[in-house]
Amino acid sequence: MTYTLKILRRERNVQASYWESFTYEAVSEGDTVASALTALNTSTSPKNAEGESSRPIEWECSCLQKRCGACAMVIDGRPRLACDALLNESKTGELRVEPLRKFPVVCDLTVDRTILYDNLKTLRLWPSVEAELADECRDLAYESSECIQCGCCLEVCPNFYAEGPFFGMATVPLTTRLLTELSPADYREIARQYAKHTFAGCGKSLACKDVCPRRIDTEKLLVNANALAVWKRKKEKRK
Ligand code: FES
Repeated sequence: MTYTLKILRRERNVQASYWESFTYEAVSEGDTVASALTALNTSTSPKNAEGESSRPIEWECSCLQKRCGACAMVIDGRPRLACDALLNESKTGELRVEPLRKFPVVCDLTVDRTILYDNLKTLRLWPSVEAELADECRDLAYESSECIQCGCCLEVCPNFYAEGPFFGMATVPLTTRLLTELSPADYREIARQYAKHTFAGCGKSLACKDVCPRRIDTEKLLVNANALAVWKRKKEKRK
């Protein structure tokens, strides 16, 4: 089957975007948006749907196995991993492909996710003492470790915007993991920053739960992180 990829493109250091369509002849049922982009870029001047020479489509990928998060983009209005988006899911054969909208666009489908990593650094999400995982927390820790920092959750979050005070769901899995592995005395600063940058700004829309490519139960992680970082500490202060 032949698919049309309508791609929102932008050149480097240029603000204006434009749509350009490319056709791709699928070679197997398992072909994804990533397969199509890879095939189109095998030529240094891929032909667009009008038969005109174009420039290669910039996008990011690494693992092609839904493990690194690099290929996150908006496909038919939904944030997804290109390597997980089967072409045959499209009923019409035409797919709209856009960069994530919450981050600055570098070029075409490549965005700059620096703010996501800066937010993790602000929260100081690393153990400064030896962490210990209790048996009853293993499931939670495993679920937390599924996060690949792709940014899909931030794309649909009504409260997150780049450089805003609210850091969004992308910081919750790592926070949950550390809160469950460290003692309250050792996670005091992480809990304080979490309360300020996550708990305080989350409107509980849980839109993140519907789009997470790793199917993380974001609600479960939020409930646990809120309990450890906020409610438990408030209770302790009242004693
Ligand atoms: S390339 Fe790694 S998740 Fe898609």
